Amino acid sequence: MKNKATIVLDINNQKKEYSYDILDSTRGPKSIDMRTFYKESGLFTYDVGFTSTASCSSSITYIDGEKGELRYRGYEIEKLVSNHSYLEVCYLLLNEKLPSKEQLKNFDIELRHRSFLHEGLKNIFSAFPDNAHPMATLSAGVTSLASFYFDHINIKDDLGYKEMAYRLIAKIPTVAAFSFRHSIGIPFIEPDINLSFTENFLFMLRAYPHHNLKVTKDGQEKIDPVEIKALDTIFSLHADHEQNASTTVVRTVASTGAHPYVAISAGINALWGRAHGGANESVIAQLQMIGSVDNVDKYIKKAKDPNDEFRLMGFGHRVYKNFDPRAKVLKKLQDELKQTIHLDSHLLDIATKIETIALNDEYFIKRNLYPNIDFYSGIILTALRIPKQMFTAIFVIGRTVGWITQYIEFKKDKQSKIARPRQIYKGK
Ligand code: ACO
Repeated sequence: MKNKATIVLDINNQKKEYSYDILDSTRGPKSIDMRTFYKESGLFTYDVGFTSTASCSSSITYIDGEKGELRYRGYEIEKLVSNHSYLEVCYLLLNEKLPSKEQLKNFDIELRHRSFLHEGLKNIFSAFPDNAHPMATLSAGVTSLASFYFDHINIKDDLGYKEMAYRLIAKIPTVAAFSFRHSIGIPFIEPDINLSFTENFLFMLRAYPHHNLKVTKDGQEKIDPVEIKALDTIFSLHADHEQNASTTVVRTVASTGAHPYVAISAGINALWGRAHGGANESVIAQLQMIGSVDNVDKYIKKAKDPNDEFRLMGFGHRVYKNFDPRAKVLKKLQDELKQTIHLDSHLLDIATKIETIALNDEYFIKRNLYPNIDFYSGIILTALRIPKQMFTAIFVIGRTVGWITQYIEFKKDKQSKIARPRQIYKGK
């Protein structure tokens, strides 16, 4: 027998009882199934920003914001990223299990084969102005994938989903690298099929047009494996994060029956905002603006002032009311990298002072404002010589698999409906 919740509404001394099913979860809060509430009561529920609303059932990612816990397909994030590569994480999200050696090898080959772009797609970059932000060209590039691979419009089977997933995961890093190279006016570098997923992306960003990484007397120079591992970890940490703003956008666009590539492109646009994935670029811009450890107190004061719009970028989260577990992994990675690659010690000093003050300040403690993933990723990405206008694109590359997995889950869920919230009308 299903558990029921009885809700008693007492409006103008008129009492009425409503009974709703309580929906179980494997972990985390249960939900009251309110789908018939409006039909039965004539009332809407008001929930700006969906702080109390579950919009779907999902078995992909679990977050316990109070504990600071994140799991993909049941696996704890900390253990997953220290023992498995980004491609293994992608495989896990898409297939619900980690790959065998053979499965991983085949998955890797499938992605390498799809990393090239259609020749026609490359032409669209020339239409964009110089200095176009890579996020704008990346989103346009992904939308235009739908014009080159339109046959997916009616994908209904696992083979179709798989092809769509492989194409997007493989091609988005190439579109992102081309977007960056266009923004600084240098020739595109084609993907190198001999390189791993993450190394290939760094190669496409860094290489000279004659396919060398540096003009050295003895020719080809390799990318430091420490850098590849660090970026791979960053991709894995960004791979999914349940029903955040951009994923909700992807599901919403999916609900209209639009082409899957444009659903992913809509997710890219939603991610760009500085309250979401755009925060990583803003964190570094903010640290540079603060400029010196001596100015930190002044900016902390501004962040606490309710009449000042200034917010500390990289702090706070809708769900985490404890340390963001992804931030914990990055903080550790940052400490490890100090021994091996050059981290900007000036920015690091400013960031450390902000972190120390904020973690001990009444304002931040009372509101559970902890550093989030974006607070640490910027300093590491800078050390990897990735320019700050590419930070959100890095987030996109990591998150693509999450969006796709959520898209497929939405499509396969028989309960799915077109997303259509209601409103309180206050107009004339
Ligand atoms: N700096 C200063 N004060 C803050 C900050 C911050 N970064 N974040 C929240 N607050 C304050 C708010 O002013 C509010 O104070 P009040 O209760 O006195 O009015 C309180 O904390 C609650 O904040 P909300 O905005 O209501 O929290 P919400 O859950 O809606 O927003 C968000 C979460 C958007 C992440 C917010 O904390 C923020 O803007 N942070 C900075 C941007 C950022 O780092 N975004 C990345 C998030 S992680 C990600 O998307 C990958």
